[in-house]
Amino acid sequence: MKRETRIYSDSIDEDRFDPNQPGSNDQDRSRPAPSAIDASTAAIAGVDELFAIRQDSPLVIGHGETGTFLGSDVTAFLEHTREVTYLDDGELAVISGSGVELYRDGEPVEVRTEQLTWEADAAEKGGYEHYMRKEIHEQPRALRQTLSGRYDLDSGTVDVEVDLPREYLRSIEEIQIVACGTSNYAGRYAAELFESLADVRTTVEIASEYEFDGGRDPWRTLVVAVTQSGETADTLSAIRKAIRAGARTLAVTNTLGSTVTREVDDSVFIRAGPEIGVAATKTFASQVATLALLAVYVGRERSALSSNRARSVLESLRSLPGAVQQVLDREDAVHGIATEYADSEAFFFIGRKYGRSVALEGALKLKEISYDHAEGFAAGELKHGPLALVTADTPVLAVLTDGSAAAETLNNVKEVQARSAPVIGAVSGDIGESYLDVTWEVPDIGMFEPLVTNVYWQLFAYHVANEKGRSIDKPRNLAKSVTVE
Ligand code: G6P
Repeated sequence: MKRETRIYSDSIDEDRFDPNQPGSNDQDRSRPAPSAIDASTAAIAGVDELFAIRQDSPLVIGHGETGTFLGSDVTAFLEHTREVTYLDDGELAVISGSGVELYRDGEPVEVRTEQLTWEADAAEKGGYEHYMRKEIHEQPRALRQTLSGRYDLDSGTVDVEVDLPREYLRSIEEIQIVACGTSNYAGRYAAELFESLADVRTTVEIASEYEFDGGRDPWRTLVVAVTQSGETADTLSAIRKAIRAGARTLAVTNTLGSTVTREVDDSVFIRAGPEIGVAATKTFASQVATLALLAVYVGRERSALSSNRARSVLESLRSLPGAVQQVLDREDAVHGIATEYADSEAFFFIGRKYGRSVALEGALKLKEISYDHAEGFAAGELKHGPLALVTADTPVLAVLTDGSAAAETLNNVKEVQARSAPVIGAVSGDIGESYLDVTWEVPDIGMFEPLVTNVYWQLFAYHVANEKGRSIDKPRNLAKSVTVE
């Protein structure tokens, strides 16, 4: 059978793909699909071979029944095939009607293929209007996959299949997390977990700012890249700096075979399944859950965590999928509130400890897809500046659960209420006299309650943006994986 070669931009939305309109898809400006032009030009000129070379940015070939596909990310052609080849830097692929040939340094090399195990319906909308809403609703299942078979509750132990020898883990003085965007906020959540459960100093670096410096000893520093795609250029650049310095490196990623996994010493997969919406949702939850497992593992290996405490952490983790489902079941209520407040001047998210990371992530989600001004703050910092922005037209969304120092945060809630700001609180347990404008209940599951709260923030962001008719799955100016520094 004659096979076709198709080039896709980052999008899997074929309706938007027009090879005759270079860069016309303004939802995907960061990737104006120049390769699409090459393909059509080749077809017009009667050329029946396509040459593709990878250098620095990712390139993946999809081997389908009806054609061969090229993309920077497998999600671009996932609905057509699950058999893929990840090219290495400097490799040349020659694609023609008879198949694919691969060359390195001018010599032919074997075409390596991998079979993605993602489920057939994973890259389809499945009745939802947007991938983002589908992916928000997939979180209970994604979390179950993340956790499945990786811990033993009776013994309070974890196995995430990493090669980190006990002696090494006992010798480290610091874990450095490097990440961007939502992954950076997952990293911040994790940093609190590593410090509390594994008794190891943990710093979180914005990958684009990273240097391996400060007199750190590379032998005693574990550098962890948190990256859903495994292809973010800033994160790759940071991890390469750590590798050059001689530090041990680990990737926490959703993407088997991605560039990061081929460069680090070890990888842990978050198993969230493909995420198509540009705004990360289920991968945040699965990243935090994976990093929590890792923190328990490191804590046990370092003898910093008793089996009893490990059991209680794992019990809280085990309750996560069910708790997230309970929040999803209250979507109608969130929708109503989102409609009521959608036209506010700005939105502020506050929280402490784990709740702080969730405040930052909540604000990021809202600004990404609604284009509204939204900021997340450590609740205690409000009075040191941001309070000047608070008015009756700036709703404040507060994390008031276990793991977020709710009693202290309530003081900050009073500060904003004194400035007439409406307050939406995600609350677990009894916070005393209820004076919030809106209360959203969070199931009582202990230290991962802030992660459950994040699902309220996701739904709120989604419905505010939907109310405004925004391009939710492909917000303006943003891309799913950013492969330039
Ligand atoms: C882009 C995406 C964000 C994502 C960030 C990091 O900016 O729009 O949603 O959080 O990249 O991506 P990564 O794949 O490294 O987690």
